[in-house]
Amino acid sequence: MSAALRTALTDLVGVEHPIVQTGMGWVAGPSLVSATAEAGGLGILASATMTFAELEAAIAKTKAHTSKPFGVNIRADAVDAVERIDLLIREKVAVASFALAPRQDLIAKLKDAGVVVIPSIGAAKHAVKVAAWGADAVIVQGGEGGGHTGPVATTLLLPSVLDAVDIPVVAAGGFFDGRGLAAALSYGAAGIAMGTRFLLTRESTVPDAVKQEYLRRHLQDTVVSAKVDGIPHRVLNTELVQRLEQSGRWRGLTAAAANAARFKSMTGMKWSSMIRDGLTMRKTKDLSWSQIIMAANTPMLLRAGLVEGNTRAGVLAAGQVTGIIDDLPTCQELVDRIVTDAVARIDALAALRAGTDRARS
Ligand SMILES: Cc1cc2nc3c(=O)[nH]c(=O)nc-3n(C[C@H](O)[C@H](O)[C@H](O)COP(=O)(O)O)c2cc1C
Repeated sequence: MSAALRTALTDLVGVEHPIVQTGMGWVAGPSLVSATAEAGGLGILASATMTFAELEAAIAKTKAHTSKPFGVNIRADAVDAVERIDLLIREKVAVASFALAPRQDLIAKLKDAGVVVIPSIGAAKHAVKVAAWGADAVIVQGGEGGGHTGPVATTLLLPSVLDAVDIPVVAAGGFFDGRGLAAALSYGAAGIAMGTRFLLTRESTVPDAVKQEYLRRHLQDTVVSAKVDGIPHRVLNTELVQRLEQSGRWRGLTAAAANAARFKSMTGMKWSSMIRDGLTMRKTKDLSWSQIIMAANTPMLLRAGLVEGNTRAGVLAAGQVTGIIDDLPTCQELVDRIVTDAVARIDALAALRAGTDRARS
C-alpha cells in the first residue's frame, strides 16, 4: 500500500504505521502479534497470563513468523519480573510495555540494553513520573477502553497527558478506524493503540462464538465493574457480571479464592509466589487482602471466556467500541484501511485550509 504516516512512534520503534495492538491477557499471543507486525503495526505479547516458559515459547513462535519489531507486556510487580526482563533483553525484543505501575530500576535496565520502554498510564501525573524515569513513550488509556480502566474519557485524558509530557504519547481507548487515528494525530498523539478492535480480527485466537458475542453487542453493552477483581474493569455486561454485581462480599470471595487456586495449579505458580505477589500488590496498590484474592481470580474468569469460550462462566473484557465494530478483518486489512482512511481524512482537512487560502487570495 502507498499510504503512510510517519510519526515519533514509527521512528522510535521502527514500525511502518503508528498503530499498536495492545497486550491483552489470553488474547495477544504469537498469532495476533506476528500478524500485526507483518501488517506494519506494533504488536505486543501479553505476558501476565503466561508462565515464564510460555513467554519464552511465545517469543520464539512470534519470531518464527515475523522478523519485524514487536513488544512484550510485563507486570512490574510479578515475582519474576527481573527474569522476564532479562529474557526480553536476551531475545532482543524491541519494546517493553508495562500494564500497571512500572519500576524505575526495570526501566533503567531495559533502556541500558536498548529496549524501547512504553508504559501504559491512566493519568497525567503517572505520565510525568514514568517520563522522569526515562520511559521512551506512554500509552494513555481513556475510560472507554476495555479491561482495567479509569473514569476519564480519551478526549480529555489525552490532551491532559500531552500537555504534561514531552515524550511521544500513544492514544488508547475507543479507537477502531482511520477517523480515530487522524483525530489522535490532530491532538498531537504519536499514534493509536487498540485492544478490542484487534481482539475482533481473524488472527485473534478468541473462539469464534465469543467473537460473535462481542459483534452482537451495542454501545451501551459494556459495564465497569469493580466486582470482578476489586479494581474498575470494563467488561461485556453479561448475566455473570450482573450476578457478581449483586453478590455479597463473602460469596464473591469464596468463588474468587477457588479460582485463584485453579490459576495457581494451571500456571504452576507456588502459593508462596502468589502470596509474595499479593504482598507487593498490597504495598504498591494499597489493596485489601480480599481485593488481592479477587485480583488472583480475574485471570481465571477471563480465561474461561476468552480461551475456553464459556461466555456464561467467563468474564469478557471489552471496550465500549465493541458496540460499533461489526466485522472480523485480517490484521493486514484492518491496518491498511485505517491508515488509508486516516491519510484521506488528513488530506481532506488540508484541503479545507487550502480552500480558505484560495478564497483569501
Ligand atoms: C480482552 C482484553 C484483555 C485485556 N488485557 C489486558 C492486559 O492483560 N494487560 C493490559 O495492560 N491491558 C489489558 N487490556 C487493555 C488493553 O490493553 C487496551 O489498553 C484497551 O483494550 C484499549 O481500549 P480499547 O479496547 O477501546 O481499544 C485488555 C483489554 C481487553 C479488551
